[in-house]
Amino acid sequence: MVANYYTFLSFILFLFLFRSLPISDAVVPANETFHYVNQGDFGTFESEYAPTYRPLPPFTFPFQLCFYNTTPNAYTLALRMGTRRDQTVMRWVWEANRGKPIRENATFSLLSNGNLVLADANGRIAWQTNTANKGVVGFAILSDGNIVLRDSKGKFVWQSFDSPTDTLLVGQTLSVRGGPFKLVSRESVTNNINGVYSFVIEPKRFALYYKNNMRYWSSTFPELTRQNVTIINATLVIQETEYEENYFHALRCNLQNGQFFEFPSLDLGQIRYNSSLSYLRLGIDGNLRLFTYRANVRGNAWSLLYTLFDRRVNENGMVFEDECQLPNRCGKFGLCEDSQCVGCPKPNGVFAWSKDCDTKSPGCKAGGFTYYVLKGVDHFTVKYTTGTRPEKRSDCESKCTKDCKCMGYFYHTDKSRCWIANELKTLTRVANSTHLAYIKTPNK
Ligand SMILES: *[C@@H]1O[C@H](CO)[C@@H](O)[C@H](O)[C@H]1NC(C)=O
Ligand SMILES: *[C@@H]1O[C@H](CO)[C@@H](O)[C@H](O)[C@H]1NC(C)=O
Ligand SMILES: *[C@@H]1O[C@H](CO)[C@@H](O)[C@H](O)[C@H]1NC(C)=O
Ligand SMILES: *[C@@H]1O[C@H](CO)[C@@H](O)[C@H](O)[C@H]1NC(C)=O
Ligand SMILES: *[C@@H]1O[C@H](CO)[C@@H](O)[C@H](O)[C@H]1NC(C)=O
Ligand SMILES: *[C@@H]1O[C@H](CO)[C@@H](O)[C@H](O)[C@H]1NC(C)=O
Repeated sequence: MVANYYTFLSFILFLFLFRSLPISDAVVPANETFHYVNQGDFGTFESEYAPTYRPLPPFTFPFQLCFYNTTPNAYTLALRMGTRRDQTVMRWVWEANRGKPIRENATFSLLSNGNLVLADANGRIAWQTNTANKGVVGFAILSDGNIVLRDSKGKFVWQSFDSPTDTLLVGQTLSVRGGPFKLVSRESVTNNINGVYSFVIEPKRFALYYKNNMRYWSSTFPELTRQNVTIINATLVIQETEYEENYFHALRCNLQNGQFFEFPSLDLGQIRYNSSLSYLRLGIDGNLRLFTYRANVRGNAWSLLYTLFDRRVNENGMVFEDECQLPNRCGKFGLCEDSQCVGCPKPNGVFAWSKDCDTKSPGCKAGGFTYYVLKGVDHFTVKYTTGTRPEKRSDCESKCTKDCKCMGYFYHTDKSRCWIANELKTLTRVANSTHLAYIKTPNK
């Protein structure tokens, strides 16, 4: 009897311990948890990409979480910047589930275990922070647009600043070690999946790529020419200059083995208002732009302060980069000069450019194609890559001939450099007759 009694007691004790185990982990106080369902009326104000949207309660001026869709029943959970005001289109500056849309009646919840979960009505999880039982006690949208899950000491267990898609807000960081390493463009206005462009932080530079491996731009930082000096991370900051009341937006690097006074940075335009509400965006077109937001104005609150590939000359009389350097400036194929598509080069001459300008498929059969040559022309990869060298033109050509994917090659006769191109896209006219393009074309 006695033994049984103790067995019974320890069973009770066991039950008690077992039940209280999860409780011994910090749990999110009930009033901090939430559960929002994607249903009900749509908002009526204009937003970027012209979607329908449903605003959610979490709001910190001028940021608000919303469900939005550009194709019916395919929603993104995103952070919107801007407040409702005539003529001001609100912009999407962070998103949870690009490429993994959710449907009507999906839920966005902060569970009592601390996990933040976006799931369809049938339970399929589209996105989550994986922060269950990690000490989360609260959720907040901070005034800089960072969405955070905090522990009891105020430390961020998770922050949205660590998972950018195509946009960086002021204070947000890209990092060579551990990431986030890059911004990736959006495919199109209506299709929210990864596009073909990426802006990448590398140990010695920032670089822009078309399809991950065709570089069409990179920064030059003379500070980084020394052997063991490399970039650690780069933060979008507002930086004071040596002149009083003169502030610039900059993507500023921290260095490994650099001297303390060296902060290589990409300058992104003087601030126009006393506001740190700005963002850097890798656009659908592969261009890099900085927008700034001014609260409490009538009319359009946005201004465009910086465009990397531009057709205008800036205040200092300099063009940052011509639009012709954008891979898709002239579509599938076209000759570009001074930001304009000026020609469609065919085997029998240069014709007027139109969107239909393209090459004929050269096929893959040996002897089934030949090349026609264009003088004073560069591929979009030529300016920021070295090509292979030194190399005879005939060797460059035979590489392209043997490679079915090669659509043409580019050759600089003065330096004997060779570039192979699997896509031609935009060709830039250059004032230099030593720069040649050889375009594959099928034999008739
Ligand atoms: C939840 O309750 C605590 C304590 O009463 C309070 O400090 C906190 O602000 C509340 N949180 C919300 C989101 O209302
Ligand atoms: C969403 O859920 C409601 C019930 O809460 C239901 O009436 C409605 O049909 C659902 N919508 C869809 C598209 O499943
Ligand atoms: C390389 O880094 C070390 C510190 O890690 C430093 O002492 C050395 O001077 C650096 N070398 C050069 C060439 O900058
Ligand atoms: C960036 O690097 C610096 C130098 O190592 C470091 O102190 C800082 O915490 C890093 N910033 C972020 C956001 O990782
Ligand atoms: C800019 O605004 C901040 C507060 O947002 C204020 O402390 C600061 O003095 C302002 N600076 C100028 C130059 O107006
Ligand atoms: C042609 O390019 C080479 C370098 O590739 C340069 O040295 C030369 O000055 C250029 N000529 C003209 C006319 O621009």
